[in-house]
Amino acid sequence: MKRKILVTSALPYANGPLHLGHLVEYTQTDIWVRYQRLRGNDCIYVCADDAHGTPIMLRAQSEGITPEELVSRMHGEHLRDFTAFGISFDVYHSTHSPENFTISQEIYRRLRNREHIAVREIEQAYDPVAGIFLPDRFIRGTCPSCGAPDQYGDNCEACGATYSPTDLLNPVSAVSGAVPERRPAEHYFFRLSDFGEFLKQWIHNGVLQPEMANKLDEWFQTGLSDWDISRDAPYFGIPIPDAPGKYFYVWLDALPGYMAATRNWCDTHGANFDDYWGPDASADVYHFIGKDIIYFHALFWPAMLKGAGFRLPTGIFAHGFMTVNGSKMSKSRGTSITAAQYLQQLEPEFLRYYFASKLNSRVEDIDLSLEDFFQKGNGDLVGKIVNLAARAAGFIHKHFAGQLAPSLGEDAGLYEKLSERREEIGTAFESREYGRAIREILNIADQANAYVDARAPWLLAKDADQRTTLHQVCTVTLNCFRLLATLLSPVVPRLAERSMAFLQCTLDWDALETPLLGHAIQVYDHLLQRMEKAGVETLIQIPAAIPADTMAGKKASEPTVAPDISIGEFSRVDLRIARILSAEAVEGAEKLLRLQLDIGESRPRIVFAGIKNAYTPENLAGRLTVMVANLSPRKMRFGISEGMVLAAGGAEGGLFLLSPDSGAEPGMKVG
Ligand code: 2FM
Ligand code: ZN
Repeated sequence: MKRKILVTSALPYANGPLHLGHLVEYTQTDIWVRYQRLRGNDCIYVCADDAHGTPIMLRAQSEGITPEELVSRMHGEHLRDFTAFGISFDVYHSTHSPENFTISQEIYRRLRNREHIAVREIEQAYDPVAGIFLPDRFIRGTCPSCGAPDQYGDNCEACGATYSPTDLLNPVSAVSGAVPERRPAEHYFFRLSDFGEFLKQWIHNGVLQPEMANKLDEWFQTGLSDWDISRDAPYFGIPIPDAPGKYFYVWLDALPGYMAATRNWCDTHGANFDDYWGPDASADVYHFIGKDIIYFHALFWPAMLKGAGFRLPTGIFAHGFMTVNGSKMSKSRGTSITAAQYLQQLEPEFLRYYFASKLNSRVEDIDLSLEDFFQKGNGDLVGKIVNLAARAAGFIHKHFAGQLAPSLGEDAGLYEKLSERREEIGTAFESREYGRAIREILNIADQANAYVDARAPWLLAKDADQRTTLHQVCTVTLNCFRLLATLLSPVVPRLAERSMAFLQCTLDWDALETPLLGHAIQVYDHLLQRMEKAGVETLIQIPAAIPADTMAGKKASEPTVAPDISIGEFSRVDLRIARILSAEAVEGAEKLLRLQLDIGESRPRIVFAGIKNAYTPENLAGRLTVMVANLSPRKMRFGISEGMVLAAGGAEGGLFLLSPDSGAEPGMKVG
């Protein structure tokens, strides 16, 4: 029976480009969705940009544009990249949409009317200069545990300690550099504990992977706390009804974003929203997510849905993170590869195929090993699968006017045997065991290639008496290719389209029952070109180890032996502690950030530093570094640079701004 299915992937934040780590999830989901459609199920795939929150508001500010402008630009960029990677959304919406305002506020009203909302006053960090309450990530200071300077407000990257921002020593706002104050404000809370008993059972009823359900059990041991769902103006978000100046915390409206996207699709396709989200919905709902956001999806979300009287998800599928060549993705190692950078070098099919070959239904991290990626793409996908078509197509055109044979002849059994394997491959796709599906597909390809080797059509072609056999052997081979192309079509949709044009037929699951016979095909043209090694190698673009000051000539990665200088010569360099008051990108300059530096003078110094590839501007504001204060001002294309900040550049690449130990103050002399 035809199933009605709604599928979602997590909504990406609208404040940065998509990278290959994101694409693991969208590829995983898209393969599943395409498999469902291939089997004739009625499956829609919805997603949206996650458009609200403080980081987006601040980023728009730093770019001198409105949040709406930023969100609309990012929506365009995200959709462009998703489309290029063949992600087949039925709708790609936004949480900053009329549908989401309506649905989020409606959910809130229902929760409030059923007394699941509490209001109480809490104290929070406030930036008196920027005039905003600060999320933990925007407070920086010295770690209370190990003394490492310049750590985030919630955890220390040096020693791994977690703490509350109030424990941080010498806290500063990363937005303005000001010392945060504690300010009281009324906050709205969702009483998650009202749903404790329900959730305890629900997470074990098969909706989650067992390892995720077990992980969530830990939360019940300490008891569920209420969830703070409000933020104070100024905030880019959805206003809380009847609460002037209060907005929903970004996650409160992100989750209903799934419903808002569905609503948009239903309205534009004459479909019934309640079939998907109503309490008696007929569709199944599956969420694909990363393991880091399981709490939101498996605790807050079902509680919100239950409290507001909507249906609950049928399944929540979490995946692990992606590493590159065995390590965490990192900007300084050049392994934080954006979708757009990948597309400049390589076809999306290779990445989709590679991810599929590595994915399973468990919550495991997957490694993008470039050597393995190159091997699987060229050796397996092109060498064993695409090449199979090339091995037979030429004979069909040369000797048989592009027409397949009317029967498979004595080798019909091979096609039958191989095509029977499709059910187990289907089961592997259905249960998200894509690696297993790919292994089985490759096994079919190996058998088909061994068949071509054994039947040697190039020898048959030399013997005029073997024409019928040659015709049948090539027809069996091309039917095996059609089988492989159909089985792989959820994974490599672009290759599937080209295969359809070549075979002049649709790739249809049920059609595999009957071989393609007496049918005209097109001349073979490369369906997929091999990757060049250089294209794969240039994926990792280690940001040039640029001296912080772009005017300095030498790359830090080229070790130089500088001539000795006297202490007198060294003391002519005026090194000072500087506080970065603000950092912003410079339009038209690829690597530069414009820094405003406080060195205890009456006005800040402006310095242009070539550190854009290594640092996000928002993360620099507030931190201390060292600057050369008596470098003659230099006129640059973008303005005058009044000094230079110091950074280390390793031979392996990377760029590391110097920071003093805690206690140093702007203006202090260094030396
Ligand atoms: O973690 C994230 O990237 C979030 N933007 C995911 C939101 S998923 C859903 F709830 F909207
Ligand atoms: Zn620490």
